[in-house]
Amino acid sequence: MKKIQILLMTLLPCLCFAQFEDAKWIGSEQSVLYADYLPQFRISWTVQLDRASKSDRLSLLFGGNDPRLMSRNMNILGVENGADESYVKLELDAASSLLNVWRIGYTTKGKELLKSFESGTLDTYAPHTVEAHCCLGSADILLDGRKLGDVVLNPMGKGGDYIAFPQLAQIGYEMEIGQRAVIHKVEVRNYRSPYGILYEDKNLRKIGNRKKPVVYLINPSHGAMPVLRCRFALKQKPVKEATLIATARGIYCAELNGRQVGSEYYAPGVSQYNKTHYYQQYVVTAMLQETNRLHVRLGEGWWAGSQTFSGGNWNYFGDQLAFMARLLVRYEDGDSTVITTQPDNWEVCDKSKVVYASMFQGEVYDNTAASSGWKKACEATLEGHLPTEGGGTQPQVCDYSSFRLLPATTSVGLHTVLTAKNVDEVRPGVYVYDMGQNMAGVPRIKMHGLHRGQTLKFRFAEVLYPDLPEYEDKKGMLMLENIRAAMAQDIYVASGDTCEVFSPDMTLHGYRYIEITGISQPLPTADVEGLVVSSVDHFTAGFECSNPMVNRLWQNIRWSMLSNFISIPTDCPQRNERMGWSGDISVFSRTAVNMADVDEFLKKHMHAIRDVQTADGRFPDIAPIGGGFGGLLWGSAGITVPWECWLQYGDLGILADHYEAMARYIDYVDSHYFDPMTGLLVQQRQWGDLGDWLGLEDEKNDKTLLFEAYYIYDLDIMRQTALLLNKTADAERYQRRLEERKQFFIDHYIDTETGMTVFSAFNQQRKGQPIDIQGSYVLPLAFNIVEGELRQKLVERLVACIERENTTDRGVRCPPYSLMTGFITTAWISRVLSDAGRSDIAYRLLQQEDYPSWLYPVTQGATTIWERLDSYTHTAGFGGNNSMNSFNHYSFGAVGQWLINRCLGIERDEQHPGFSHFILRPEPDPTGRMTHARGYLDTRYGRIESSWQINSDSSVSFSFAIPVGTSATLLLPGKAPTELKQGNHQFTESISKRD
Ligand code: BGC
Repeated sequence: MKKIQILLMTLLPCLCFAQFEDAKWIGSEQSVLYADYLPQFRISWTVQLDRASKSDRLSLLFGGNDPRLMSRNMNILGVENGADESYVKLELDAASSLLNVWRIGYTTKGKELLKSFESGTLDTYAPHTVEAHCCLGSADILLDGRKLGDVVLNPMGKGGDYIAFPQLAQIGYEMEIGQRAVIHKVEVRNYRSPYGILYEDKNLRKIGNRKKPVVYLINPSHGAMPVLRCRFALKQKPVKEATLIATARGIYCAELNGRQVGSEYYAPGVSQYNKTHYYQQYVVTAMLQETNRLHVRLGEGWWAGSQTFSGGNWNYFGDQLAFMARLLVRYEDGDSTVITTQPDNWEVCDKSKVVYASMFQGEVYDNTAASSGWKKACEATLEGHLPTEGGGTQPQVCDYSSFRLLPATTSVGLHTVLTAKNVDEVRPGVYVYDMGQNMAGVPRIKMHGLHRGQTLKFRFAEVLYPDLPEYEDKKGMLMLENIRAAMAQDIYVASGDTCEVFSPDMTLHGYRYIEITGISQPLPTADVEGLVVSSVDHFTAGFECSNPMVNRLWQNIRWSMLSNFISIPTDCPQRNERMGWSGDISVFSRTAVNMADVDEFLKKHMHAIRDVQTADGRFPDIAPIGGGFGGLLWGSAGITVPWECWLQYGDLGILADHYEAMARYIDYVDSHYFDPMTGLLVQQRQWGDLGDWLGLEDEKNDKTLLFEAYYIYDLDIMRQTALLLNKTADAERYQRRLEERKQFFIDHYIDTETGMTVFSAFNQQRKGQPIDIQGSYVLPLAFNIVEGELRQKLVERLVACIERENTTDRGVRCPPYSLMTGFITTAWISRVLSDAGRSDIAYRLLQQEDYPSWLYPVTQGATTIWERLDSYTHTAGFGGNNSMNSFNHYSFGAVGQWLINRCLGIERDEQHPGFSHFILRPEPDPTGRMTHARGYLDTRYGRIESSWQINSDSSVSFSFAIPVGTSATLLLPGKAPTELKQGNHQFTESISKRD
């Protein structure tokens, strides 16, 4: 990687970079406010009651006329308000010394008094400042700078797990007959520091009417997403090559002479921007003319606006968008022209078609608007625009002391275009289109014959409310509860041209269904397309077998990988989360490295993990951004993911780059997570030390067993990594520790007589009692903690747990061959069974269709992997889990690795990383339920193919193709190993059956 020169200046760094020469970060001084999409804000009014009229009461309003509350079709609260009938009201009642908080028109109750705060003795006729600091519906109420208390305004629920009410929406006041007052000042600021001003009205306003009550609401929205432009001419001589390097605080899309530069989405991608910021490099030679126009649109991306499940993370990295670029034109004669971003040469306009663009909230596009109000761009300094407060478990984003600007190595691009399969008019004028597939991306909508100004709304959901009594009044409508506080709504204002196309590119939606309103006739399905975007541009593995349900499962894994490999590996692409949760990528990484070439992508992610690793070595639960919860089973991603990359792709660089961070992490675990009394690895004994997340028997497990097992696995990886990097002393140290902890594990978690797992002293009351559930056996087997006879005993216990009926923590009885494991142990269970010669059980688990199983969601219509094995059932709907219920979460899809590595049997040889030699060990289904499987894996040597077919005489025919330059050891069940060289190979063998 290139070393980049960083000049640090006084307070905040004015960061200059060799590649960018004298380019400046440029942007607009104007803030953008789209009030209907803003659920976090600080609003304040300075007001004064009128003495002459003896006025003693006035009310200040926000959250007014939220369009969602004005149409029965746009909310599940059952309301449909007319103009000025819905708002939140802060009523200053000076006579009673109260400040009352009202919610009006948000629920069927109409007018609700939520709380009354004592205001204390007030000088009635002096100016007073009333404030609400509102974050996803929870608000602090202040009077004259003093906090009176807090109140939950959101009727849906408290916190980020719910559809967010109120948005700022319209603001104003309400006055009773005869009451009079003066408003001195109204101000809206961002909720998060540095509390940038979004709206300000300093005009003195006399309010009140002698004859009638007044409700006055205005929309404070203003501005649009910044567009920057620059014109330049070339010298009159032949151009050899022109390159543009560019990046943004926010996301950008550049156009040169009317054509988009590059084809990627969301450049420069997400990173821990105060530590590592990426830039793109484009060759633009063919796009140049004598005189040129470079236009750049900016969106909030991951820099500003909504980010993560916490409303407090709005504007996480700063509140001003900016762009920086350098165009270098080299002429044949060696001369050159350089254009860089400079406030003097660039203009910015704040009135453009993209009124608002947010990853979570959606894009608002006004096709009647023309770019206007061009003025000189401003230099965008970080100073005054960086959040300086906060931090906690998240790193301080104003610390630029180790900032690096690096060339991007990954991108997000268009993967596939889907066309809607059908449309349903679920209520008059409400058209719901089914894309036939859950996906992540943006729509492309073609429209004809709209009138100028006609406004269409697009909402996005993964599922619809089913036809069950519980959802009677919502049947067929979008289920948006699981999208939570992400607005996920695009708005398009038509220009009135004969044909127009809307295709937002500065937002991201996770969806299968699009609801379109604002039209009187449905658009043809052919005109409703879904642009699937991903950082995965093609798959490197294929799989197909005789069981169509398993084939669908395979497709679902692919789709969830596509949807969640978008700049970083995320948990889900739809709700207000979309974060780089470490536990998820840790368990999915082996599947991921097989499915696609994600070497660079995961290297970049390891960089992000290092960027948010704490000073004392803890790997984050989430990267970038940091924070979250999970603990050791999550943080281990910093060890397991680079290891997977090394074994799959054979580039030691990732381990070399990451080794020091890995070692620091182990030191952290050693010095923070052990209980000195018992020697157990207990972590912090807090809820956030997650175990077998979303496992149906997680509460029956001893979590410390899982922690210890993963720690042992981490040590084993450390030992091997140290050896590879010639750090012999480290390797010996890890080896000793590994042996010690393996023995500790056996001593504390296993009854060596019976092979049963037992509770440790972590829970004194249960110490020594059997655990004996599936999820307790998987890891000690997967990580070779037990060997020989003891290992065999554990295998038998695991098989017994699978073959019996089990009961979930919630008391649901599950049939034999149910998948009782959570995120962590599901990833390993099939492999462990195959390693133990029990592929028969692995196949029965795989092909089980009853709940809980991998195929159960398939029977329920899943087109992606779900967060829960019962995210939806035909009989119980969402089972009460309406909000934490993603339909696009790859973790349970970690079985993908087994399909490739064991069912097809294309498995890397750990002694020869990167497939310079590999193992072929196909395991035809011994139960005979699956009768054939075929597929491939693309490696840097080319395509490896493997197939097997069970013949009518019970013999099995195998066929393999080995590419040039590599070779394989063939391991067939019950046969001696054979070496195979490049070329095609066919065998027919008789193989023993097992029911
Ligand atoms: C995420 C997960 C994550 C978990 C951990 C959830 O909200 O979606 O997939 O790993 O939290 O705590």
